[in-house]
Amino acid sequence: MIFDAIRESHDLQRDLCRKLTASRDDAAARQLLFLQLKVELMAHAAAEERFLYVALLMTDGGLDASRHALHEHHEVDELLEDLTTRDKRQPGWLTIAKKLSFKVRHHLKEEESKFFQVAGRLLSASQKVQLGRRYAREIVRMRKHFADEYASVAVSEKSGRVMPAKPAARRPATRGNARAGAQRRGRSEPRRTR
Ligand SMILES: [Fe+2]
Ligand SMILES: [Fe+2]
Repeated sequence: MIFDAIRESHDLQRDLCRKLTASRDDAAARQLLFLQLKVELMAHAAAEERFLYVALLMTDGGLDASRHALHEHHEVDELLEDLTTRDKRQPGWLTIAKKLSFKVRHHLKEEESKFFQVAGRLLSASQKVQLGRRYAREIVRMRKHFADEYASVAVSEKSGRVMPAKPAARRPATRGNARAGAQRRGRSEPRRTR
């Protein structure tokens, strides 16, 4: 069912937020946690918008909840962009990371305690099952889509979750040569590193 599938990602997001805001001196560990969280948040928002909120937007009773949720997804995106461009060694970075964590937790709580109830009343039983299946496929596809931009994170074939990339998966033949790596992946631009 759609709500159980969504809750799985919510729990991952809470866990990553907690670890990120607790990170102190280790800049590499902080960068890795940030990228894992960023990919998870972006993949989840895309899959959830496509397979929960579009259906909800099409109902009169779901208009307010879905608009509100999409607005919060946008606010999270803006904080992610800010954290991506800021210097992670500066104390201000952690202040914004805490702001992100607070916003994410607020959003998840609101979805779980209010919007799921609204959607529960408006969607049929078969819609909930079908949307759940499509959401579950889409979040894995989008995790891969976003993780592909970064050399240090990858999606596990087994669990479908975002993980730190194994050194072997970074392919020594092209390591250190971003252009060659980009060509191998059929892209014109090298992977971003932040
Ligand atoms: Fe959401
Ligand atoms: Fe969500």
